[in-house]
Amino acid sequence: NYKVYKDGNLVEKEILTFNDSIGSAQKEGFEHFMLKEIHEQPRVVENLISLILSKETIDLRKFDYIQIVGCGSAYHTGIVGKYIIEKYLNIKTDCYIASEYRYGKIFKSDKTLFIAISQSGETADTLASVLVAKKLGMYTLGIINTQGSSIARECDEVLYINAGIECAVATTKAYSLQALMFSLLVYKTLKGEEKERVLNEFRELPNELSKILENDYKDIVEKLYKHEDIFFIGRQNDYALCLEACLKLKEISYIHSETYPAGELKHGTISLIEEGTPVIAIVTDESIAEKTISNIKETRARGAYVLLLIRDGIEVNNDVYDDIIVVPNNTIFTISLLVTVPMQIIAYYIALSRGCDIDKPRNLAKSVTVE
Ligand code: G6P
Repeated sequence: NYKVYKDGNLVEKEILTFNDSIGSAQKEGFEHFMLKEIHEQPRVVENLISLILSKETIDLRKFDYIQIVGCGSAYHTGIVGKYIIEKYLNIKTDCYIASEYRYGKIFKSDKTLFIAISQSGETADTLASVLVAKKLGMYTLGIINTQGSSIARECDEVLYINAGIECAVATTKAYSLQALMFSLLVYKTLKGEEKERVLNEFRELPNELSKILENDYKDIVEKLYKHEDIFFIGRQNDYALCLEACLKLKEISYIHSETYPAGELKHGTISLIEEGTPVIAIVTDESIAEKTISNIKETRARGAYVLLLIRDGIEVNNDVYDDIIVVPNNTIFTISLLVTVPMQIIAYYIALSRGCDIDKPRNLAKSVTVE
């Protein structure tokens, strides 16, 4: 039995049931939690798709301005969200790092939606941002993993990603599900043939992810793991995906890595490219592929080793890259996951080759509850 008191007075507390099992916090034969969590993605992706498609969810079209706030990888999914919302719904969407948002000047309309993204639901800056948004009268939506967490309790509405417990400090499955949540919300606004086509992609996605998980990208890992500087380039949504791939790599392998919008590299950073410097480029958007490919060539001309992640169907000459990973010819609704998972695997095996403490990288915490 229990009783809860506040200032000496008995208070009634709502009982929240912990839905996960202790079993999901075991490594289940995997060497690290991170690898196990990477491998859980086909299953949790399938579950989230069927859950969200079978219920009523918020209609983003009710709003004329959307703000997305998060930290770390959660912030990166917000950028993925921004691109798909703006492209399909034509609603201005801004994405902020929570520690900046909370102290900045905030502009809003009467129909602004504030979205907080957080795996733990406890990140101090994200929580503080929710409180700021509420005070300004915005409708607040949380995209969260942990049931009953502080951010979940503060938001007007919550969409749980149901990733299950994530133990590795570096997020993998939660990132993917947060990004997928945006795709699912936007998907609901589609009509006709396009809707049917994207639905098929959602249906195929778990299988496609399972196929990707058969790879360990050993040859590529072998070429990269001894380097101390790696650069990522991409444009628009591919840039957002680079941000996450880059963070994943640096946080667990301690390799210095940086992301640039592909067209920006030449304004300074290209001076760091020398013979053998690795450049990882992501190209999934056909409309701007040619532009990124020309930036890749600029790095190759300076001796860069280029790993290219490209969507099947986009033409590229084989003198543009050293190694290539071709992902299925899918739309923006699912392509983010098909690019992210190979990069998670590569980051994991690079960190493994460097003998790093993968599940608990130095100086990092899973849940950052201080400013
Ligand atoms: C920490 C974790 C990151 C995570 C970030 C935001 O820095 O190491 O993996 O992206 O916090 O956490 P949240 O729980 O709010 O998603």
